Amino acid sequence: MAKMWEGRSSGQTDRIADDFNSSIGFDSRMYRQDILGSIAHAAMLTAQGILGETDGALIKAGLEGILADLESGALQIDPGCEDIHMFVEQELTARIGLPGKKLHTARSRNDQVALDLRMYLRGECDEDRALLEELLMTLLEKAEEYSDAVMPGYTHLQRAQPVLFSQHLMAYAMMFLRDRARLADCRKRINCSPIGACALAGTTYPTDRRFEAAELGFDEICRNSMDAVSDRDFAVEYLACLALISMHLSRFSEELILWSSAEFGFVTIDDAYTTGSSIMPQKKNSDMAELCRGKTGRVYGDLLSLLTTLKGLPLAYNKDMQEDKEPVFDAADTVRACLSVFIPMLATMKVHPERMRAAAQKGFINATDLADYLVGKGAAFRDAYKISGSLVARCIAEDMVLEMVPLEVYREYSPLFDTDVYEAIDLDVCVRKRGSEGGTSPESVAEQMAYVKAQLKEA
Ligand code: ARG
Repeated sequence: MAKMWEGRSSGQTDRIADDFNSSIGFDSRMYRQDILGSIAHAAMLTAQGILGETDGALIKAGLEGILADLESGALQIDPGCEDIHMFVEQELTARIGLPGKKLHTARSRNDQVALDLRMYLRGECDEDRALLEELLMTLLEKAEEYSDAVMPGYTHLQRAQPVLFSQHLMAYAMMFLRDRARLADCRKRINCSPIGACALAGTTYPTDRRFEAAELGFDEICRNSMDAVSDRDFAVEYLACLALISMHLSRFSEELILWSSAEFGFVTIDDAYTTGSSIMPQKKNSDMAELCRGKTGRVYGDLLSLLTTLKGLPLAYNKDMQEDKEPVFDAADTVRACLSVFIPMLATMKVHPERMRAAAQKGFINATDLADYLVGKGAAFRDAYKISGSLVARCIAEDMVLEMVPLEVYREYSPLFDTDVYEAIDLDVCVRKRGSEGGTSPESVAEQMAYVKAQLKEA
């Protein structure tokens, strides 16, 4: 096939080299952005008198026709084209003739591809944010549904202190809220128009970059033409946002996998989100959660891949940068797929508060409260800590829990113990008393939930 850039060279590249050079296999997903960008470009050229009104109108109608036909399926993307930009221009020229060849005035594929990618990614940011909002709503619903469920809180995966299940869920809500805010922040830098930078140095034509940017919904224009075509930091930032979402989702997945095991039994994942084993009839595996955890590595890889591609590139555009798209698309698709399965899996998950409570009742999770009780009676914390520790050791030796220790035994350790000790180490009391801001008391968790809801109302 004849090359658009045929001229200086014959355009006769080797077939293998052609395939190697081509990006249409993955950049065709930006056809919409490419066409809308071209429509705005033609409008700008026309408004500036660089293109005649008739040519401008023909180009606009031609591009709109191509978009409509691609969307209806009447037109197929030609895989023989080098990239999506070439395909659209070729199709336009096939449809309207000479005016089609005027579209590429005062631009280059270098600013065009940067434009397309920025337009594509801001759309991705919006979709990711919408999914995170759905996830946050689901977290709030679950937290409300099981508002008084008490579970062991862990450090080092050892039972540490009792917490409300809703406190645990709100911890994730805070992470996903930050992820959502990060995406919004990253979107600001994505939403900066590179078009008009041309190949690298700007243009001699009397263009109006701000007109074109405004037509396409950009808030700003890239202030330096070389920067506009040669950096992809906005895409790196987006990948970093996705890497963090994946990391949070992966940790949450890990907990769901643990919690749904027979050893924990805190939750049951709905059959719709588990699989069986081909050999062990009793198995119910949490594959979806495992895949969310597993795919995180791939998203991290995408981030590292782009960072590495960019490292060492001289200004301005280099073909290496064509390698930006696959990792970005892969990560976007992967995170989208993970969130899409994780949300309904969480929504349909059954929680077993009685199992959580039973686990919290073992393991001396109230030992801190026992020490705090003595502090309340006038003991120094270090002494109180030691006494509590000795009592725990005694319980272990005698196969008891702190709630079962008779008052006389408590008194052997300190005369400060009294009948009110049993109330002080009651699980619900332990939770209720942790009323410090951000703590696990029901009031504090309710405040956290109100905060998450208020944040969700903000754009
Ligand atoms: N397909 C190319 C890319 O994705 C478009 C830009 C090509 N520019 C060039 N000077 N060859 O980066």
